[in-house]
Amino acid sequence: MQNLIDFWNHARIVTLVAMTLMLYACSGGMDGGQTTQDSYLIKFPHVTAPGTPKGQTAQRFKELVEARYPDRVSVEVYPSSQLMNDDDSLEALAFGEIQMIAVSLSKFDRLTQAFQIFDLPFLFSDLNKVEEFQASPAGQDLLNVITDKGFLGLAFWHNGMKQFSGPEPLRIPEDARGLKFRIMESDVLQAQVQAIGGNPQKMALGEVYQALQTGAIDAQENTWSNIFSSKFFEVQPYVMETNHGYIGYFVAVNPDFWGSLPEDIRSGVEEALKEATAWGNAQSEQINQEARQSVATSGRSEIVTLNSEELSAWRESMAPVWQQFEEQIGVERIEAAAAL
Ligand code: LMR
Repeated sequence: MQNLIDFWNHARIVTLVAMTLMLYACSGGMDGGQTTQDSYLIKFPHVTAPGTPKGQTAQRFKELVEARYPDRVSVEVYPSSQLMNDDDSLEALAFGEIQMIAVSLSKFDRLTQAFQIFDLPFLFSDLNKVEEFQASPAGQDLLNVITDKGFLGLAFWHNGMKQFSGPEPLRIPEDARGLKFRIMESDVLQAQVQAIGGNPQKMALGEVYQALQTGAIDAQENTWSNIFSSKFFEVQPYVMETNHGYIGYFVAVNPDFWGSLPEDIRSGVEEALKEATAWGNAQSEQINQEARQSVATSGRSEIVTLNSEELSAWRESMAPVWQQFEEQIGVERIEAAAAL
């Protein structure tokens, strides 16, 4: 009898040890509660077309990440406002419903005034100047200004310089008087349009084509790549080559998501982003010039080039906007950017 009891006790212990070992093996071993086979999804919606600087850079980032981490990290890019508009994406990122955004720096007014410097008219003469400012300590500090609100900045991406389009040739600011201009969600851009006697209307990108077509608005400002890919040239007979402002993007992730990535994956994704950023920022000017060429040959819209007197008139009429926002932005910061 005792032998039988000993036998069953022994068998139970052997079974328990075997089951424990099996469970341990299935869990992938101990690594702080995570299995080494966890996979990660980065949902990345944006509003421009796939061929734009942002569209191409987002795609490049996806390819680099997925080549580096097949089966571990996937990046789902949703271009052309397919998933949501920019306003909704700001909310979705803060709530962790999506993991990454590249939203125009002009659209962060309700979160911070620190990005308003990028909207000051005629502050940056070209993308090289913007890049110099963004790479400076003052520019790099901006990556962290809204981390506590759910937006950890990782990079700045360029689109390009803005041009006005309208129903008539707008050679001098007086030509813009009384026109309804679509603008992005920015108080600086609102003041800019008011300074030239126009009537600013804040509106999401996805609504602009129809608003121009139906006459709900008369004019707008955007980069060549957006004017071409969003087909504004079909419904705007004139595009004025003013290069009066900049459109670029704040590329950000949700800080909790970022913190939840294993360290090696996080640094690998960051490296892929650096590579995509350098690649995209080096292409953006060319992509915009190609789009300009496509608008020129479309036969739908005339490109109006301005002489230096006409350009000075635009510059002068918008100059008061700098003073209007200098307290918020900081005189020193504006002067530092202007001196580049
Ligand atoms: C716009 O709304 O016109 C731009 O922000 C679009 C973009 O993302 O380039």
